[in-house]
Amino acid sequence: MKVAVVGATGMVGEVMLQVLTERNFPVTELIPVASEKSVGKEIEFKGKKFKVVSMQTAIDMKPEIAIFSAGGDTSKEWAPKFAEVGTTVIDNSSAWRMDPTKKLVVPEINASVLTKDDKIIANPNCSTIQMVMTLAPLHKKYDIKRIIVSTYQSITGTGVKAVRQLENEYAGIQGEMAYKYPIHRNAIPQCDVFEDNGYTKEEMKLVRETQKILDDKTIAVTATAVRVPVVGGHSEAVNVEFENDFDVSEVRSILHHTPGITVQDNTDTFTYPMPLYAEGKNDVFVGRIRRDESQPNTLNMWIVADNLRKGAATNAVQIAEYLVANGLV
Ligand SMILES: NC(=O)c1ccc[n+]([C@@H]2O[C@H](COP(=O)([O-])OP(=O)(O)OC[C@H]3O[C@@H](n4cnc5c(N)ncnc54)[C@H](OP(=O)(O)O)[C@@H]3O)[C@@H](O)[C@H]2O)c1
Repeated sequence: MKVAVVGATGMVGEVMLQVLTERNFPVTELIPVASEKSVGKEIEFKGKKFKVVSMQTAIDMKPEIAIFSAGGDTSKEWAPKFAEVGTTVIDNSSAWRMDPTKKLVVPEINASVLTKDDKIIANPNCSTIQMVMTLAPLHKKYDIKRIIVSTYQSITGTGVKAVRQLENEYAGIQGEMAYKYPIHRNAIPQCDVFEDNGYTKEEMKLVRETQKILDDKTIAVTATAVRVPVVGGHSEAVNVEFENDFDVSEVRSILHHTPGITVQDNTDTFTYPMPLYAEGKNDVFVGRIRRDESQPNTLNMWIVADNLRKGAATNAVQIAEYLVANGLV
């Protein structure tokens, strides 16, 4: 399979190449793509060196699959051009997620919506993926009414510029700023830009994408997204109110039996998920599972995942695997 990785020199792109290697995705020809400034630069894949090419060169090579992680504007402009030559695009940006003609897919939840006609497939936002992975099996059983989520998001979610900012701040170097404020020793209650309603785009992604993936517009969601000086993954405190009552041990058991989820939940042994230990792992980790004692049918959880893995690269590669396994490319 001829596979283009668009944004191969970026934070997600680099992990994409690792995940394709680890999962032994059948790549017969890799086409790494980045911006014009990186054309000709060498990247390594499965021990071999490959030269970065331009978008147009990649399109001319007609790959079967192109996995995009190069920003929304790039995707808006170029994904349709790949689709025109018959390439199936799996896109990590927010460009197509809320387009009603495009599918928004977390393979464990809704891969079955995909058909051969889907030439641009959207990969959800990182903070949404880890939350819906956990909520989908519980929604099926208890019917979600309302979700209140507060996130503690890794700087790797902002790309290489943000990692450089934190490293510079550690070293006391004045450099380029990815954020409006210092991130070292700080917590910034702004992920992405503000919308007219006073919420950030990241917060509204949690609302809209959750409803689209769970295919239920009646689920109420409210979010606060915060950037913290952490690199291993995003953490989320999630409060969820169900229509029906639940048993906490049954919740634990449902999650324990859900593929892609690891339950880490034992207060006796101080076992709970943390981003330091989620880094580099493909699973979503769930702990601190407990009843909200302030109102009926309500649960609290702490959900952690590596945003570059299940939040981006792993989910995209799983979509590609599904397409191949079901003869959709
Ligand atoms: N980081 C995350 O956790 C995460 C999670 C889910 C989704 N995403 C999405 O994935 C995308 C990339 O994020 P990132 O964190 O990897 O950012 P990043 O580290 O800044 O990397 C951006 C990549 O895009 C390439 N690029 C930029 N403009 C381009 C253009 N005009 N044509 C071709 N390639 C271009 C860059 O190439 P150069 O090196 O040549 O500049 C680089 O390879 C974004 O859309 C982001 O929203 C990120």
